[in-house]
Amino acid sequence: MTARRTLIAGNWKMNGLSADGVALASGLADKMKAAGAVDFDMLVCPPAGLISKVVDAVAGSGMHVGGQDCHMNEKGAHTGDTSAALLKDLGCSYAIVGHSERRTDHAETDAIVAAKAAAAQAQGLIAVICIGETEAQRDAGQTLDVNGSQIAGSVPEGSTAANTVIAYEPVWAIGTGRTPTSAEVQEVHAFIRGELAKKIGADEAAKTRILYGGSMNPKNAAELLALADVDGGLIGGASLKVDDFWTVAQSA
Ligand code: PGA
Repeated sequence: MTARRTLIAGNWKMNGLSADGVALASGLADKMKAAGAVDFDMLVCPPAGLISKVVDAVAGSGMHVGGQDCHMNEKGAHTGDTSAALLKDLGCSYAIVGHSERRTDHAETDAIVAAKAAAAQAQGLIAVICIGETEAQRDAGQTLDVNGSQIAGSVPEGSTAANTVIAYEPVWAIGTGRTPTSAEVQEVHAFIRGELAKKIGADEAAKTRILYGGSMNPKNAAELLALADVDGGLIGGASLKVDDFWTVAQSA
C-alpha cells in the first residue's frame, strides 16, 4: 500500500473569540512540542479573523493552519470574502473548500467548489475538498452516485496528491453523533479513491489522503482511522477542546 501520511484536521467553524482560539491553538502546540516527532500532520482551521493569532500561537510546533473557505478569484470586488492569496499570506498552508455548510448556506455548486479548490492550489495551498451525501440521498440508495458525481465535479484539473485532500463527510453525520458503520465508511472511501483515479490517475489517487468527517470523536476515532482507505479526519465539535482533539490525533 502506498504510504499516506495521516492528516488530523480541526474545523472550528464559526466558534471562538480571540482568547479561546489562542488558548486552543497554544494548548495543541504545547502537546505537539512535548510529543516531539509525530507520525501525523496536524491542521487547525480557525475562523478567518483568528488566523493570524493562531498562526502566531502555533509557531514552531509543526502544526499547520488553514482557512475554512476561499474565494475563487485572486482579488477584487467581493465584499466579505477571503482570497486564497490572503490565506497564504497570513501563514496558511491548507484551505477547506466545499464544506456541506458552505454548499447549503451559500449555494456552492460543484463547479464553484472546483474553482475555489483551483484558486487555493494556485496559491500553493492544499485544498481540502469536502463531499458527502445527505440523509435523503443515503435513504434513496444514492450514496455512491452522489459522492462519485461530487468527485467528478468538485476536483479541478491539475489536482495531485500533493495539492489535494478529499474529505468524505456524510451530511447526516455532521454534528449529530451518528456515523456510518466502519464497513460503510471503508466502502465509500475505496469507491471515492476509484473515482478520483478516473480524474487524476491511479498513481496520484493512491497517494491522495481521504479524510473521514462527521462526528469523529475520542471514542470512535481509533476504529475509523484504522480503516484502509481512511487517511485522517476532519473534526468539528471534538476539535474545540485540546484534550479531545489531542486524543483523536493520538488515535491515528
Ligand atoms: P463534526 O463536524 O465533527 O462536529 O461532526 C465535522 C465537520 O463538519 O467538518
